[in-house]
Amino acid sequence: MLVLGIESSCDETGVALVESNGSATPLLRAHALHSQIAMHQAYGGVVPELASRDHIRRVLPLAQTVFAEAGRQLAEVDVVAYTRGPGLAGALLVGAGVACALGAALGKPVLGVHHLEGHLLSPFLSVDPPEFPFVALLVSGGHTQLMRVDGVGHYEILGETIDDAAGEAFDKSAKLMGLPYPGGPWLARLAEQGDAAAFRLPRPLLHSGDLDFSFAGLKTAVMTQAKKLGDQLEARKADLAASTQAAIVEVLLKKSMAALETTGMKRLVVAGGVGANHDLRRQLDAACARRGVRVHYPELHLCTDNGAMIAMAAAMRLQAGVAEASPRYAFDVKPR
Ligand code: KG4
Ligand code: ZN
Repeated sequence: MLVLGIESSCDETGVALVESNGSATPLLRAHALHSQIAMHQAYGGVVPELASRDHIRRVLPLAQTVFAEAGRQLAEVDVVAYTRGPGLAGALLVGAGVACALGAALGKPVLGVHHLEGHLLSPFLSVDPPEFPFVALLVSGGHTQLMRVDGVGHYEILGETIDDAAGEAFDKSAKLMGLPYPGGPWLARLAEQGDAAAFRLPRPLLHSGDLDFSFAGLKTAVMTQAKKLGDQLEARKADLAASTQAAIVEVLLKKSMAALETTGMKRLVVAGGVGANHDLRRQLDAACARRGVRVHYPELHLCTDNGAMIAMAAAMRLQAGVAEASPRYAFDVKPR
């Protein structure tokens, strides 16, 4: 079964081909990605209308690249998968529209995929994929969740953020320090030259006894600290970045360890954009090694949004029999 996957929920256009044979983990045949980051940078964040228009411009050329790279034909596609949500409504409609148009032209069914399930299953695209069951730490720009994953489609949320997501905490703090959008990777780079103990920032809900997160207070504390520094901010920026990253990473680390303890599981999967953070990876690796826990990450370039994870999630859902592709070409998107 050859699955064409299309991701267009936010500011990356992604297209990929994944093939599944029998019961083995489906294989990535080719993927292509266009990031709109440079376009949105001038505005300090994603401009939804510009995002939709750019997805329209990019998606078919990317699809052509993918077919050429995989040495496959459009007519060989069995299912067209696309991101159904969450995401920007107009951006999602581009992916859904193209998927339905291709499906209708080929006479092949379409399948809408939950963006977060794409992230969640993205480590299965790596050469050493995880085995079920596992605890998943999902850390993206819009979501922060800990999940118990017993199989494809069998997910239980153990805890989640009650306000900002971890990626949002990175991005908003970075903005306060005058760093470009999206701030996460910039803040992480700056943090390498700073002293993480320079500023004592709050670790919200660290001792709450549950597996929920809260990052809004941290952002406020960073803002207060930045104001207090005034003219000094520029000189102390690396220290503030390092202290901010340390606060976010400590909360993610402690709660992940608590989730492993609560469930008794010996496997952790980390996915979503913030999963690319080196400090987070280093600390999770060390803590998990001490506990005899295996950690799985997506490959670095597949941590942030991409089409491969959407094609993979679709292929895995179909293979597990928890979803059925539909021959009805409804423009079915779910922004929230
Ligand atoms: O998963 P993703 O691409 O999009 C969403 O579904 O939200 O995640 C994007 C988020 C942004 O907040 C970005 O700043 C953050 O992931 N991010 C990072 C790093 N790389 C991306 N945050 C911290 N350190 C990084 N290296
Ligand atoms: Zn995402």
